[in-house]
Amino acid sequence: MAKVLEVQQLNKYFGQFQALKNVSFDIEKGEVFGFLGPNGSGKSTTIRAILGLIKHDSGDIKLLGMDTAQHMMAAHQRIAYVPDDVYLWPNLTGGEVIDLLLRMSGHEHTSRTDALIKKFELNTKKKSRTYSTGNRQKVPLIVAFSLDVDLYIFDEPTSGLDPLQARNFQEEVLALKQAGKTVLLSSHILSEVEKMIDKLAIIRNGEIIESGTLSSMQNLAELNVKATLPDYETVLRFSHRHKFASIHNTASFAIRRDELATVLRELSEADVQDLQITPPTLEDLFIQYYDVGGAQ
Ligand SMILES: Nc1ncnc2c1ncn2[C@@H]1O[C@H](COP(=O)(O)OP(=O)(O)O)[C@@H](O)[C@H]1O
Ligand SMILES: [Mg+2]
Repeated sequence: MAKVLEVQQLNKYFGQFQALKNVSFDIEKGEVFGFLGPNGSGKSTTIRAILGLIKHDSGDIKLLGMDTAQHMMAAHQRIAYVPDDVYLWPNLTGGEVIDLLLRMSGHEHTSRTDALIKKFELNTKKKSRTYSTGNRQKVPLIVAFSLDVDLYIFDEPTSGLDPLQARNFQEEVLALKQAGKTVLLSSHILSEVEKMIDKLAIIRNGEIIESGTLSSMQNLAELNVKATLPDYETVLRFSHRHKFASIHNTASFAIRRDELATVLRELSEADVQDLQITPPTLEDLFIQYYDVGGAQ
C-alpha cells in the first residue's frame, strides 16, 4: 500500500510551550483516517505543520511521497484542505467565495460544484457575512468536495453543521472512500466520525497516545452488556461488575471479551429475559483513554 502521508517525530513549540511531542502516524492510500483528541490537544497544529502553514521545530513529513521541506507547492495542488477557522470575504456572496476559493486552488466551478451547493442547501446569492456558522462551514466543504485530488484534509468539519448536513458530509466522505481517495478527518466529536473511519490516532496534550484500526481498539476495550432480569434481587447479583448500573429490572455493566462465556452462563442461570451486548463505541474508548489514571 502506498503511503499518502507520513509524519515522523514531529515536535512543535510555541515559545516555551511544547504543543507537539514526537507526533508520528501515517496514512495509506484509500484510507479514511480519524485524528481524534479533545480541544487543545494539538490536532490543528499537526495539520498546519503538515501543510507547511506553520513551521515545526523537528521531525519529517512526507506528503504524497514528497518531502514537504522541498515540494510543498507540488503537494498542495493534490490536496483539498478545510481549515478549522474559515475566512470568508464578508462582502462577497457565498457563490463568489466558492468560485474564488476554487480559482485560488487552480480549479474550476463544475457541475459537481452545483450539485454540492444543491445538496448542502446553500443560498449562494447571499453575502457571506449574513451566513450562520453552519452555512459558513458549508462553503469550504463544497469547495473541497468539488475538487478531484488525492488527499482531503478536514479539520473539525462538522462541528457547526446540523444533523442533516452532517449526514451529507458523511455521505460525501464515504463517496471519496469508494473512489479510492484518502481522507484525514480531525474531530473531538466521536460519534460523528465513527461510521467513516478505518484507522485512527488519539492525541492528548500533544502526544499520540493510541493508534490503530478501529476494530483492533474495539477488541481491546470492554463490551457493554444490558440485561433484563426477573427481579431486582437478581439484578444485584451483577453489582460487582465493572460500571454496574441498574434501572428497575435492567442491569448494565461492562465486561472483557474473555469473560463473555462466563457472564452468558450467569445470565442464563439468572433467567435473563432480554439481552443486548454491544461493542464499545469510540466514546467508550475515548473515556477509557482520557480517564485520569486510565490506560496511557
Ligand atoms: N499560534 C499559537 N500560539 C501559541 N499557542 C498555540 C498556537 N496555536 C495553538 N496553540 C496551543 O497549542 C495547543 C494545541 O492547539 P490546537 O492544535 O489548536 O488544538 P486542537 O486543534 O486539538 O484543538 C493548545 O494548547 C493551543 O493553545
Ligand atoms: Mg483545532
